[in-house]
Formats: sequence, C-alpha cells, structure tokens
Amino acid sequence: MDARFTGFANVWTPVAMASALRVDRPLAAQVAGVRLALFRGRDGRPTALVDRCIHRGVALSLGSVKDGCLACPFHGWRYGADGAVVHVPWNPDAKLATLRARVVPARELAGQIWIHTSFDPTPPDEPQVDEWLTGAGVRIFGIAVDWNVHWTRAMENMLDSPHLPFVHASTIGRGFLGLSKGRMDIEIEDQPWGFRTRMRIDGTPRPGMLDFRWPNQMNLHISLPRRRLFLISTCVPIDETRTRMLFVGARDFLRAPVFDWFFNRANLRIAEQDRAIVESSQPPRTPDARAEKSVRTDAPLLRFRKLYFDRLAQTASE
Ligand code: FES
Ligand SMILES: [Fe+2]
Repeated sequence: MDARFTGFANVWTPVAMASALRVDRPLAAQVAGVRLALFRGRDGRPTALVDRCIHRGVALSLGSVKDGCLACPFHGWRYGADGAVVHVPWNPDAKLATLRARVVPARELAGQIWIHTSFDPTPPDEPQVDEWLTGAGVRIFGIAVDWNVHWTRAMENMLDSPHLPFVHASTIGRGFLGLSKGRMDIEIEDQPWGFRTRMRIDGTPRPGMLDFRWPNQMNLHISLPRRRLFLISTCVPIDETRTRMLFVGARDFLRAPVFDWFFNRANLRIAEQDRAIVESSQPPRTPDARAEKSVRTDAPLLRFRKLYFDRLAQTASE
C-alpha cells in the first residue's frame, strides 16, 4: 500500500530550512506519515520524492546527489528532478520510460522548503507567506526541533496568549507578570489566509499582532521602534505523536548571518519552555472542544480547532 498523507492532505507546509537542503546531498523529512527524500535538481530547485526506491524499497535519502540527480545507495539507480529514472547501472537495455518514483510537489519560498501534501503534479494553489518576507533587505533565519506531541497541541500552544506569564516568566512573559488578575481581551479578525488577533489588557491595546496562517503556522509581528522582527512557528506533523517545529524569524536589522545564532538561541530558549508543558498534554492530539473546559480567552485556539476538525482531520491523500 502506498504512503498517504493522513489527517493533513492537500495543503502546503514548510518542511525544512532552505539552507539545510544542500546541492550535494539529499535531506530526509517525514510529513503526516510519509517519508520523503528532498534534493535539488540541476537548476537548484527542490524536488521531493517518496523516500523509497522503486527497485528494492530502500531509503533514497541515504543516497547521493550528483549533477542534479539522486542516486540510490543500493544499486545506484539515478532519479531526475521529475522522479524519472535516468540511469540503471549494468542494464543499458532497461526500459527507463516505465521507471518513475512518486513525486510530491516542492517549492522554495521565504528561506524554507515547502511541500504540498499530495501527489498532484499541478497543485491548485501555491504556498503563500506574508509579503514582507519576500522583500529585499530581510534576513531569514531559523531552526528545527522535534516535539513529542501531535501537531495540533503544538499549534494551539502557539495561538495561546494567556500562558505567557506562567510558562515564560523569565523570557517573553516577563512583561505580563502581575497583570493576570485583570482582564485580557483578544480580538479576532478573519483573513483569507486564516485570522489575525490583537490583544488588550484592561482595555489597553498591547503592541504587536499574532496571525494564524492555515493550516499550521503562527506569525508573530513584534513591534520595535523603526525595525521589524517577525517570528514564524510552523508545526509540521511527522506522525501521530511527533511534530517538527520550525522556528523561523525574519528581521530588517543586524542582518549579518553571524547574528542568526543569537536570535535562534533566544527563540529556542522560549520554545523549550513551551515544549516541557505541551508534551505533557493528554490526550496528545487535540480533542473535540466539548472534551475540555474552555474560557473566553481560548477563542483563537478554539477557532483553529474548529477549522482543523472541519477541514483537515479527516483528509487523506490519494
Ligand atoms: S534498491 Fe535502489 S537501486 Fe536497487
Ligand atoms: Fe509559549
């Protein structure tokens, strides 16, 4: 039986930092149960193949890349960027036209490698990001970390503001300490790509905005005087109990790559605080809203939960 993207079909998701996909070797990834071998073709564009050689089923991601072709580590069959086998060692008479791997649509955008969770050679749409990320003068950086939880719990955590002074008292929640006896209001504005939220505490607007971008991204707009810092958290389902978190950021100041390390480390410190809490969730996958008690400030998270159950939870690729 062929691999299927289960519970996460027909959507675009980033799967890796573009800098992690080199020209000279493949990169393994797993999305919603499907193992993938990513590599760059001769023109540098990314290709994603199901990570299973059509000859004897071994992992293509253990192979090597030469001249934009991916060579299987077992008998050296070579695959081109369109998944077609272009060379079978010892067999100059092999019928190449009948030999082809399964291809998953892949793109490079905003410093990340994206895939469409389908086998559709012409997906109905293209991946989309906030416009600012593709402009000139923006430095994109990021790291990947695996969490032991279903991606829906991780996604909800990213949309949850009331936890800031409790989980992040020593980092981003510091500014909220002592305020939680007051009233938090979260305004939700629907957008074609998801929804945008703004927060008020005791009637006073807080700076910044938090966006949910369908299906699995949180974009945090941090307001700084005359500068922009943008943090993107993507929750990529690996399987039922594991999630690859991509913590990506973009900035228009301190643009030298050497500063990436500092920003990544700060991001990782905050993420580790979340991870410790979120991995303890029971059940590990977000349940129906009626199974848990919720309050007014849970509205963004419940909005996501409804979209997920209505549009994604039951899907599977062909
Ligand atoms: S298993 Fe890949 S070439 Fe034989
Ligand atoms: Fe958090």
